[in-house]
Amino acid sequence: MDYLQIKKTNPLHGEIKISGAKNAALPLIAMTILAKNRVTIKNLPHVADIKTLLKLLSNLGAGCVSEWGEEASTTIDTRTLTQTKATYDIVRTMRASILVLGPILARFGHCEVSLPGGCAIGQRPVDLHLKALEQMGAVINIEAGYIHAIAPEGLHGCNIIFDKITVTGTANIVMAAALAKGVTTITNAAREPEVVQLCEILNASGVKIEGIATAILTIHGTNGALLEIEPFSVIPDRIEAGTYLCAGAITRSELTLKNANAKHLGAVLSKLEEMGSKFTITENSITIHPSEVIKHVKIVTQEYPAFPTDMQAQFLALATQADGTSIIEERLFENRFMHVSELQRMGADISLNGNIATVNGKSKLSGTDVMATDLRASSALVLAGLVADGVTSVHRIYHLDRGYDSLEKKLQAVGADIQRLRE
Ligand code: UD1
Repeated sequence: MDYLQIKKTNPLHGEIKISGAKNAALPLIAMTILAKNRVTIKNLPHVADIKTLLKLLSNLGAGCVSEWGEEASTTIDTRTLTQTKATYDIVRTMRASILVLGPILARFGHCEVSLPGGCAIGQRPVDLHLKALEQMGAVINIEAGYIHAIAPEGLHGCNIIFDKITVTGTANIVMAAALAKGVTTITNAAREPEVVQLCEILNASGVKIEGIATAILTIHGTNGALLEIEPFSVIPDRIEAGTYLCAGAITRSELTLKNANAKHLGAVLSKLEEMGSKFTITENSITIHPSEVIKHVKIVTQEYPAFPTDMQAQFLALATQADGTSIIEERLFENRFMHVSELQRMGADISLNGNIATVNGKSKLSGTDVMATDLRASSALVLAGLVADGVTSVHRIYHLDRGYDSLEKKLQAVGADIQRLRE
């Protein structure tokens, strides 16, 4: 198994190119199930989760031809797709596999997806996805760990009100509604940029969608007609960008992120500003001008456009280097503080009370062996390692590889002493 070895370095400097967003690319790959043509997707991130979903589509019979060079892209042909079952061996490695449920059901009238099961950051049920599909006419049974969904008469439009805002739930239902008969309204829809891109591409492919980027989406289904989808590029990864901005802030380094969209990072930039950083922003780049003294902060994670839960762990690492007491409240996932005990082992002064972390800074961190527990927790440990004395070894980085494209190479290129080694 690989691990990352990090040594404290002098300030970093230079440019980092941000990859395409994993969480945008996943629903967009699933969306190709609705196409009647071969679809080319550009600016794909080179990460394990993307390969997992492409493998799932290949197992179902789709043709996937991918290029993993500097400008990674894939061309997916789902015209040959015949299987409709997403099996446990794939779904257990990536919960987002549930994204094929809506499009397969809409296109074939039946689908089986393994229940995703537990997850390090909380229960993460899919009940809202299923309830909405039932409202659209699907009959759903859970048998032997599988969701069996059938819609012999096809799916029909209806009014769906999500009890909670769900990102993949919204994406799943938007894709199901795209081929449904009639109009579907989703109230309390997710407004994340990744959901917005999915809606925009569907809209450009013949599915009229009103209310894009708002909490109420109205989707005019095509009544089974498959879509002609033109080539497109995945939006930049706002979480990857946010992580490297934290790397700049924690190491007090001026870094420029290329292919980054500051418009998607409002809450993250504003918290970094509160902590003392300044920014130069262009259409597709962000330069961080960090402050020598990092100020303490109060953060509450919420749905977009509020502060993202996917940046909570990285800010927690940053808060260990801030002067004073920071309060970080996690509102989306009940168990998303697994990185706290690892940061404590490095010398951080953090106390946990339910879903609220109190971080007393500034702590002197010391490198040691630490264990990554989930994707974003992994990057928080890397950030801590950049400023810890001695050597930090981050183990179980298969979590990190699920969502960060070439993290150690990107950090090496700006001067970090970080290496991928074998256990
Ligand atoms: C997506 C992102 C993930 C991010 C999360 C929150 C992808 C592939 N993943 O995950 O990186 O951390 O949004 O921004 O895009 N819930 C239910 N029932 C459901 C669905 C969700 O109770 O049927 C709850 C969840 O347990 C959680 C909350 O709703 O507490 C939000 O979850 P959701 O937005 O669905 O997260 P994901 O789409 O899985």
